[in-house]
Amino acid sequence: MASLVSFLAFHFLFTIFQYSSLAANVNYNVQTLGAKPDGKTDSTKAFLSAWTSACASGQPATIYVPPGRFLLGTATFAGQSCKNQAITIQIDGTLVAPSNYNVIGNSGTWINFEGVTGVSVIGGTLDAQGANLWACKNSGKSCPTGATTLAFYNSKNIMISGLSSINSQMFHILVYGSQNAKLVGMKVSAPGNSPNTDGIHVEKSSSVTIMNSKIGTGDDCISIGPGTSNLWIENVACGPGHGISIGSLGWEMQEPGVQNVTVKSATFTGTQNGVRVKTWARPSKGFVKYVLFQHLVMVNVENPIIIDQNYCPGGQNCPDQVSGVKISDITYQDIHGSSATEIAMKLDCSKGNPCSDINLEDVKLTYKNEPAHSSCINADGKASGLVQPNNCLYN
Ligand SMILES: *[C@@H]1O[C@H](CO)[C@@H](O)[C@H](O)[C@H]1NC(C)=O
Repeated sequence: MASLVSFLAFHFLFTIFQYSSLAANVNYNVQTLGAKPDGKTDSTKAFLSAWTSACASGQPATIYVPPGRFLLGTATFAGQSCKNQAITIQIDGTLVAPSNYNVIGNSGTWINFEGVTGVSVIGGTLDAQGANLWACKNSGKSCPTGATTLAFYNSKNIMISGLSSINSQMFHILVYGSQNAKLVGMKVSAPGNSPNTDGIHVEKSSSVTIMNSKIGTGDDCISIGPGTSNLWIENVACGPGHGISIGSLGWEMQEPGVQNVTVKSATFTGTQNGVRVKTWARPSKGFVKYVLFQHLVMVNVENPIIIDQNYCPGGQNCPDQVSGVKISDITYQDIHGSSATEIAMKLDCSKGNPCSDINLEDVKLTYKNEPAHSSCINADGKASGLVQPNNCLYN
């Protein structure tokens, strides 16, 4: 009996111990660490010190950013030597970049995560105050390149949820060299005429999911660079912007390919492109294969469906060359809506390496309420169901 009692007591204590060690979550409030919600006191040090502590902690940790505007300069959160693989950054406020664009404009990235594992960024607004830099660029003066607002380099198991990014200098969000990232409930915005303000760029990364997001910007809503695989994009509203683009690819001769990309249930409103694959007219061993574009709605989109393998702006660096990038197994399924130009489907593939296994299924695109037109060059594949504009593939 005594042994049963002591067994139960032990079991009880052990359960409590287990529970408390799981539940323990250390909390670092940046304001307690010296950050000021006044929008003008540089709070970078407080953020870095919160990161250093969270990173060194053996327990899951939360870095908390209370409501208010926190001025943040360039910040790198490095994870290579972190003990912690469960850090949540809960943001109720806004992180704002210095109003002088030079402060972050030459640094590549404003808020930079490098080699982190298990980081979640929840809520908050990032305001890079890009307008003065765009004005500088548009005036033709010499200006800094501009910084990407938020980047994850060489990272794993990332979650970004409910984050807003506004007025980036260059790209808003970059996922590079990373595995397993979920970006959900994002709101990304910059004016339609702001230069190079891509929404989300994914490159050399696998298993990235982008869902339930609204992206309006001056360049691609989502752009997909070389070496991307197993990318899932679902329920995204895009516009203004240049649409969702695989590319530009094929600048390099030795370039990793793009494969297994799904773009599902997206709406494009007034954008330059809907879904685009774009490659430089240069020799390359790159490729694009196994792509599914499904359940897409186009509202007054200039080029709803486009493959452009003759990309060579200004005829620089690629005159008279053909793209070596091989494009195959691309399916366009249930895509409907309106085109802002007569040619709603333009498949302009490489003369040296034609597109193959392009599948068109239930496509219905109109121009001024009439069936739109199509144009295919070096494109092979098949069509099924209603396809309007006319299937122009050879097979
Ligand atoms: C393709 O990517 C999805 C995630 O987007 C993944 O679930 C699936 O297993 C991948 N398919 C292959 C054949 O790798």
